[in-house]
Parts: sequence; structure tokens; C-alpha cells
Amino acid sequence: MRGVVQVAAALSLAASVMLAGTVVEAVKVKSLDGIKCGADLIRKNAKFTKVAVYPQTTVQMNDKKANELNKDAKAKLVDVAAFTDGKSVALIVRWPDKTKDVFDCYCSDKYPDGFAVQFASDASNPEKLPYIGMGSDGRPVAIYIRKAYGTIYEPNGDGNVEFQVNPHNVNAFGEDLKKFEKEVEKRGLKTYQRAFVSEGFRSMTEIKDDSAKFRTDMHYVEKNGGMWGGLVVRPIEDEYAKPAKGEYAVAVAVWDGKELQRDGLKRLSGWIAVKLPGGDHAQLEKVVTEQVQGDVNKGQELAMTNCASCHRWKGAEMAPKYMAPDLSNIGGQATAAYIKESIVDPNAVIVPGYNRNAHPNFSWYMVDENGNRTSAMPPFNYLKPEEINDLTAYMQTLKAEVEK
Ligand code: HEC
Repeated sequence: MRGVVQVAAALSLAASVMLAGTVVEAVKVKSLDGIKCGADLIRKNAKFTKVAVYPQTTVQMNDKKANELNKDAKAKLVDVAAFTDGKSVALIVRWPDKTKDVFDCYCSDKYPDGFAVQFASDASNPEKLPYIGMGSDGRPVAIYIRKAYGTIYEPNGDGNVEFQVNPHNVNAFGEDLKKFEKEVEKRGLKTYQRAFVSEGFRSMTEIKDDSAKFRTDMHYVEKNGGMWGGLVVRPIEDEYAKPAKGEYAVAVAVWDGKELQRDGLKRLSGWIAVKLPGGDHAQLEKVVTEQVQGDVNKGQELAMTNCASCHRWKGAEMAPKYMAPDLSNIGGQATAAYIKESIVDPNAVIVPGYNRNAHPNFSWYMVDENGNRTSAMPPFNYLKPEEINDLTAYMQTLKAEVEK
């Protein structure tokens, strides 16, 4: 049995190394002005890297139907490419999705497909990258989100009720009715694109003052069984994020409306090193590609005795739900450095917020009178270095299978 586990782990490790990359080289082009999905420039010059995006299982949603649909969700492979023209950087994301789900009515059970690109604000210390799920205290991220929205008129969007009535009730005919409908369409919310700064999922703040200079695009094509393309363009450097030695730490996420995904319920990559031409690219790449060499079986035993009383993951479902973050995909989303840090110094990054549906006794941290948080997880700094290695090697195998 043990041999089987070991072989399976070795295979999944080999497969993940072969399938998914974590390094993207930005291609230098003359200009990114006006770039759109499907542009010749992208088709001819993009250097795509396959990146795996894993179901985010840290916290669960309060939606039975959605949870049921996502219970056994697999990882997807997404193509990621980057461009720069010396002024701006563009991230291109291409991902398979069999159905085009567009939000075109205010219906409570309809959710759009969408994607997000997250930049660590500062990647100069790759061992201390922000928490992958939208940053953490003192380690902020800039996030750009685009959702597939159709033409819908947002009630009170501009405070004007005149164009919110049913066309049958406007007493307009012929040309006048056409004018009315044109006006409704013009005022319709066509693009959902937003920029946020965030230090954790309870602290997402939308940047509304136009200081985030960015643009997004999104486009669906039927070929290859259906796929989306998306892009985000932003300045190489602004107050929200900048490269360190010519590299950005970037993560991408995709939402599938068909699977009722929204908010934290999505698929998310780990940190990717996006390299600008001519940078000094060693450090970040080393951290995001690190695969710890350790004894996965020993690591599993250690995890069962030390971690499974609080954490759950596929194959270890003893702990009460919501006691601690679900680790089923930790190996797909966290770097080895982050996992090690979590084990020996849980207070370094405290997963921001915990499940709203959780039992109130299962708080993930304590808050003192000064607002400082202490993790509910004890530090395991007494473990031997090789035990920490084995544990980390095992944690790196925890991730959903990649969908064929
Ligand atoms: C007493 C309960 C408890 C035990 C035992 C425990 N943890 Fe945790 N762990 C938590 C809580 C609560 C959090 C969330 C707060 C935080 O980030 O520190 C957490 C966070 C983590 C995270 C970060 C998760 C994420 O999504 O980023 C990792 C990784 C982790 N623990 C690994 C371990 C490992 C490995 C062990 C065993 C060596 C372990 N934990 C033992 C309660 C526990």
C-alpha cells in the first residue's frame, strides 16, 4: 500500500512538473496601445506557458448547490503570456471553458465567467510573498478583475430612473422607441472591470479614483471545445505594484459561471514569475519553482499526527469542518517557502478572515486590544529540519488532478 502511495505521489509530482510551468517571459513589442484579445500581435508573438489553476478550497461558501458542483472540481490548465513595450505590461490569459456564461440580467442564480490577474505589490523578497488568496497584512497585492457582463441596465447606476422602465410602458413608438432603446443600451453596464488593492480577503478596496491606469478585455471563441481569452494591461510600475529586478510575482484566477462560481469560489494558480526582458531573473524564479526533496510517506505520517486534528484535505477528513483552512490544494497554490514558514511561524502570515459559516469557537486567530492577530495554530518549530522537509514535500503533493 505504502509503495502505491509513493509511486502515485512520484507520478503526480512528475506530471505536475511536466504539465505546468511557473515562469512566463514577457515579449518585447513596439506598442501595446489599443491591444485587444485576438490581436495579430498576440497570435504571432505570444510565448504561452501552461499554468495550472487549482480549486480554491481554503474556505467554503454558504451555497449548497455551488459546493456540491465544486466538490470534486479538478484543476485546469491555463495559457499565460506577457508583453511589454517599455511603458506597460500586458498579461494574456487563455483558458478552456465549455460554456459561455454571461451575466445579462439581475437573476440571483446566474453567475458570469471571469478572470483575475493579481500582482504582488512588492516581490523583492520572494521568500515572503503575499498570501496567495488576495494578500495579507503588510504584504499587499494589486488585483484586476474582469467578468463577462452583457448589456444590462443597472438600476440607479446613474441615478436616472427614466430609462429603467419596460419599453412597452414608455408611450414611445417608431423612431422615438428606437431612440429610447439606444439610450438604454448606452447606459447599460457593458464592462465589468475593476482594480483592487488588498491585504487579505476582508480588506479588498476598489481603486475608484482613476489612479489605477489599466485596461482589460475578454473574448470567447468556440474552437477547441470553447475557450476564453482575457488580457490586462497596466503600467510597468505604479504605486500599486512594481517589478523587482525585472520580475513580477503574478497569479491568475478564473471563475466558471456554469459551476456557480463567484467570490472565493474559483480556480487559482500559485505565484508565477513574470520576467521582463533584460532583468536579473534568478531569485523569484528559484522560489516559485522550488520542489522540496523529502520523504513524502514520512511527511504524510507527520501530517496525520500533527496537522489532521485541525486541517482537512482530501484523504484526511477527520477534523471538524472550518477548524482551519482546507489544505486540499495547498500544493498547487503555495510555494515551498510559504508552507515551511506556515509550519514554523504561523504568525508570519495569518490567513485573513475565516469562514463566516464556521462555528464561532473555531476562530482562526485571536485579536488583542491593539488589533494584533495571533494564529490559532501552534508553531511547529521543534520539528527537525528533515521532518519539516518531509512535511513540506508531502504538502506539495496536495492538489487536485488536472483536467484532461
Ligand atoms: C490547533 C489547530 C492547528 C494545527 C494542529 C495545525 N494548524 Fe495549520 N493552521 C491552523 C489555523 C487556524 C490556520 C489559519 C491561521 C493562520 O494562517 O495561521 C492554519 C494555517 C495553516 C497554513 C496556511 C494555509 C493557507 O491556506 O495558506 C498551512 C500551510 C498550515 N496551517 C499547515 C499546517 C501543518 C503542516 C500542520 C501540522 C504540522 C498544521 N498546520 C497544524 C490551525 C492548525
